[in-house]
Amino acid sequence: MNDNDNRGKLKKNLEKPYYGYSIMRYFTVALIVGGIVSIALAIIFTAWVSILCWVLGVILLSSGVFLHLSMGLVNNPEKIELVKDKFSDLLGNVWDGNGKVLDMGTGLGRVAIEIAKQFPEAQVVGVDTWTKGWKLSGMTKAGAEKNAIIEGVSGRCTFQTDSALDLPFEDGEFQLVVSSFAFHAIKIPDRTVLFEEAIRVLASGGVFVICGPFSGSFLKAYKVKNMPELLEKVQQIGVEDVKFVSFKEAGVNLGRLANIWEMGYLSGRKVKSYGRREKR
Ligand SMILES: C[S@@+](CC[C@H](N)C(=O)[O-])C[C@H]1O[C@@H](n2cnc3c(N)ncnc32)[C@H](O)[C@@H]1O
Repeated sequence: MNDNDNRGKLKKNLEKPYYGYSIMRYFTVALIVGGIVSIALAIIFTAWVSILCWVLGVILLSSGVFLHLSMGLVNNPEKIELVKDKFSDLLGNVWDGNGKVLDMGTGLGRVAIEIAKQFPEAQVVGVDTWTKGWKLSGMTKAGAEKNAIIEGVSGRCTFQTDSALDLPFEDGEFQLVVSSFAFHAIKIPDRTVLFEEAIRVLASGGVFVICGPFSGSFLKAYKVKNMPELLEKVQQIGVEDVKFVSFKEAGVNLGRLANIWEMGYLSGRKVKSYGRREKR
């Protein structure tokens, strides 16, 4: 069955793809509403109940506002479009659009599908474990497949349930490896293994672009103190042209507070053959 047939099958109410994150909006609204209600109760009650409500209200309200200002971008379609457009621009500069592409931690396939749309010669595969927490945001394999059908690329964009920590691919299988907002979501003591896996499955001369937050606390999870140290660590795995371009430098303006997470695109090109390392 070709993409047009598939699209025809889903014709009506499935025309719009869903790329997740509305749960973040509900969570933020719940925090803000909870804060306002607590403060209202603080005014009604007296003595220690009032103090308790004030404290709770201020904590909930400020957490909600902070979350909205710093992470609200993830459910803001315009801001997400900016991140996605810049991702495609960047890829256009470093990759010729041919060959196999891997998206690690693909979620609902937002980046995988965009690449398949932008680069008609690309064969894209998205892997994800679709972990429980993310399923709450509707992130499922079926959801990603449905999006690929709606966007008319299901013939060249497929999804499989596998961990980014142990990719079921041969060394050097891909010309491009990408990941968007996934590395930081994978909880392991040293996330360097994610770069090792990405680079292992890349062909010599292949490129990777990893998008996400790289502020101090996130860098700790790669066992480095700062970005230059991370770039050096990644380079030593066997790549050249390693660089980090922050959203700010790339002209992706997501609002001031979003900058505290130091989000951006970390990219490089594999130069040496890289044997499979012993699993940690
Ligand atoms: C924040 S979401 C990002 C989804 C998508 N890349 C995007 O930009 O919309 C993080 C994703 O990482 C996935 N994930 C968590 N642990 C993983 C693992 N070990 N291997 C692959 N994916 C994983 C989650 O299931 C989730 O879909």
